[in-house]
Amino acid sequence: MNINQIRKDFPVLERKINNKPIVYLDNACMTLKPKQVIDAMNQYYNEYPACSGRSTHKFARIVTEQVDSARDKTKTFLGAKNNSEIIFTKNTTESINLVANSLGLKRNDIVITTDKEHNSNLMPWLKLKENANINYKIIESNKDNTFNLSTFESIMSKEVKLVSMVHTSNIDGYTIPAKEIIKIAHDYGALVMLDGAQSTPHQRIDVTKLNVDFFAMSSHKMSGPNGVGVLYGKQELLEKMDPFIVGGDTVIDTTYDSYKLSPLPEKFEAGLQNYPGIIGLGAAIDYLTKIGIENIQNHEIMLNNIATRLLRDKVNIIGPSDSTQRGGIFSFYVEGISPHDIAMILDESANIMIRSGAHCVHSWFNKNKIAGSARASAYYYNTKNEITLFAEKVLEAIEFFK
Ligand SMILES: Cc1ncc(COP(=O)(O)O)c(C=O)c1O
Repeated sequence: MNINQIRKDFPVLERKINNKPIVYLDNACMTLKPKQVIDAMNQYYNEYPACSGRSTHKFARIVTEQVDSARDKTKTFLGAKNNSEIIFTKNTTESINLVANSLGLKRNDIVITTDKEHNSNLMPWLKLKENANINYKIIESNKDNTFNLSTFESIMSKEVKLVSMVHTSNIDGYTIPAKEIIKIAHDYGALVMLDGAQSTPHQRIDVTKLNVDFFAMSSHKMSGPNGVGVLYGKQELLEKMDPFIVGGDTVIDTTYDSYKLSPLPEKFEAGLQNYPGIIGLGAAIDYLTKIGIENIQNHEIMLNNIATRLLRDKVNIIGPSDSTQRGGIFSFYVEGISPHDIAMILDESANIMIRSGAHCVHSWFNKNKIAGSARASAYYYNTKNEITLFAEKVLEAIEFFK
């Protein structure tokens, strides 16, 4: 992996602010896009800006081909069996909401999540608890924020309909033992959904080998365009589910008192879609595949090792102490110093961009009585020098507030 070469693909990395380079370490929020992705989207707008699947003219035929090709690439990238199992959505949040609202969950049906869920995999279940009286249960993580398989097994029963869990946490980068969880859940007859927003960009995903029932992800976290997400679902499950958003493209035919739904995947893709975004996602998948997802994962772990070595004596790191279990996420807090102040100082002094706060996982921070964390999250274009600079500036900030 030639990082210097890779960095040339990112126009934004050439920017200087106050005569200093930028150090972008907010990749768990959103990743940067290479020019190959930007070009693919521009090509759509410049050369064939039309609808997919509706009209028969030349532009429409190209868009249809390009969208089909992006779906095919996504299927291969996720290890799915059929293109009809890939539903394009707006983002992970919409993918999870689609399942929550189309699965037909009823009173007393049990849904289980971890205690580290992003609001996107917490709110849908809280709403269903309120509106449909589902029984929503949360399982406690270990003290170091890792997953406890025995606690999980002890809570499972035949009444559990769905286990919906964050695959890789955006608080600490820890990945749950998904294969084991799925096996246990299936033994009890429950379905499993993984929130793959933070796993898909950083590790090999194979939904078929995992045998997961639903998998949600966002393009913007893997160098793709904003506003595009994916829901993978097993074909036999998606076929039985009733779409919760309906309208254009979801139906083959209507009368004033009846409708005939389209086959998969269209029945879940209501209204005109984000064609340039979908095409851009296809380009992002090509780009990541060329670099190699394993190379990306190893590189991030190497960077996290550096940050951990340089800072572990001075800050509280969230998640397991072993940095190889935290992917590219280095999330920390220092008693008596606001994470926002640390983030501001890093930005002001060296254009180092990180995130601070509760990272949309307020529930975990509330439970643990931690006001928030500062989170640096690396991707394949970040360098050892950048991570070292980040650590140096954090140490300076701590000194400053002492
Ligand atoms: C673990 C996790 N789940 C879900 C989401 C929501 O993703 P999106 O805003 O793309 O829907 C995020 C975004 O930060 C995330 O980190």
